[in-house]
Amino acid sequence: QVKAEATPPVAPPAFNKAQLSTDAPASPWVVANKRRPLNPKTYVPTVAAPAMKLRLSASTPEMHVSTQALADLQRLDAAAKAAGHQLMLASGYRSYNTQVAVYGNEVRAYGQAQADRQSARPGHSEHQTGLAIDLAPASGACMIQECFGDMPEGQWLAANAHQYGFIIRYPQGKEPVTGYLYEPWHVRYVGTALAAELRRLGNPTMEEFFGLPAAPNY
Ligand code: DAL
Ligand code: ZN
Repeated sequence: QVKAEATPPVAPPAFNKAQLSTDAPASPWVVANKRRPLNPKTYVPTVAAPAMKLRLSASTPEMHVSTQALADLQRLDAAAKAAGHQLMLASGYRSYNTQVAVYGNEVRAYGQAQADRQSARPGHSEHQTGLAIDLAPASGACMIQECFGDMPEGQWLAANAHQYGFIIRYPQGKEPVTGYLYEPWHVRYVGTALAAELRRLGNPTMEEFFGLPAAPNY
């Protein structure tokens, strides 16, 4: 009788952090923050409207997302639906000029110091890459509000987004690193491999994972 040989333990291959660029604006691993403007600042990605509930008409650029994130976003939406959660895309791609308007409104409403804690200056927003997506319940309840994190939709998103290549980019308590308050609604597409690795490591921020400087301010 042939005896099965003992299988030697095999170390899993180390995750290659240099596989994709953190600088190129079209890279799913691009790290944009207050210290890392997009290059060029007026970068325009290739975007399209996902087949899901949208806050505005499908022809509105803000309802589009990077074509790189499209299929996985639709998979995420379908999985949420299967779990009983109806999601809505509240804000996706925002051009440089759209961010001029968004940030300007925040400054007028709250003053520059508070605006900088919750809105990126033009040329510094992940939304300009088409890889950042603000999700809300289809009802619009707690849309772009911290209470989204306590809703079933927000809880489901935090628990499952990584399976579809998304991370909660601005976690609670990380303002000294990311420069932003907790945004449970803002998911960032990084691809399924990196999302799984970040999950495995306990959800470090992109800055922490890639060893990039904290970006509390400009
Ligand atoms: N609210 C995020 C930080 C943005 O404006 O891109
Ligand atoms: Zn956002």
